[in-house]
Amino acid sequence: MTLTEPHAPAPADATTRALLEVEALDVYYGASQVLFGLGLTVGEGETVALLGRNGAGKSTTFKAIAGLAPPRRGAVRLAGRELVGVATHHIARAGIGYVPEDRQVFPEHSVEDNLTIGAKAGPKGARDWTLERIYDVFPILAGMRTRMAGRLSGGEQQMLTIARTLMGNPDLVLLDEPSEGLAPIIVVEIAKLIATLREMGVTILMAEQNMHFCLDVATHAAVIDKGVVVYRDTIDGLRANREITDRYLSI
Ligand SMILES: Nc1ncnc2c1ncn2[C@@H]1O[C@H](COP(=O)(O)OP(=O)(O)O)[C@@H](O)[C@H]1O
Ligand SMILES: [Mg+2]
Repeated sequence: MTLTEPHAPAPADATTRALLEVEALDVYYGASQVLFGLGLTVGEGETVALLGRNGAGKSTTFKAIAGLAPPRRGAVRLAGRELVGVATHHIARAGIGYVPEDRQVFPEHSVEDNLTIGAKAGPKGARDWTLERIYDVFPILAGMRTRMAGRLSGGEQQMLTIARTLMGNPDLVLLDEPSEGLAPIIVVEIAKLIATLREMGVTILMAEQNMHFCLDVATHAAVIDKGVVVYRDTIDGLRANREITDRYLSI
């Protein structure tokens, strides 16, 4: 990951290189198939929203990428490197930072300990994310560095989980439903934070049911329905496409 100054323009589409390529993925839980030939691409510097209703297969897609739900068929490549069959901790080392649905902090440790526990060099040795930089981007955490993580609110824990993942200097961040279960006022803060990361050039794939959360945050959208990606476009393309939003994303 190369961090640019905040507010640098996102790279133009034409020059974007594919960072993550998911191809023809079939994933099963026991005998029941959940993903059907799923395909998805995330370009370097993009913020892609994987949108779909509850049960569509968003979390399973993330688990497959992170190595927690090994696919029966298909390919997952990060910067050209095949990750199917690679152990979860090696996938993390290869540069994928995964923030699961159930935000996981170490409750008995301070905010700062939670951050330093997550610290490691990126796959190419980069250490762009330091405590100082984290506190710059997450000022709310700077004021709580000695507080036990278990005493933080849900929104603060979500921020801490994202921050801890960044401390591992990943090339790609997977955010599974970052707005889920949070009060509307906190959701706005999380959206601002993700927009800041986008402007810094962090590559993000985020799963969401909430399209409105994504409209001002994402650069691109992929819509998943019943284990298949049925649509992919820029976020503005999705915004303008009433047929798709009515069919797959209305409640
Ligand atoms: N551990 C599991 N075992 C069996 N079925 C599961 C498991 N996890 C998810 N599923 C099923 O897989 C489908 C996709 O789930 P999931 O990927 O969690 O969807 P989403 O994140 O879009 O809500 C759903 O039908 C769900 O019930
Ligand atoms: Mg889910």
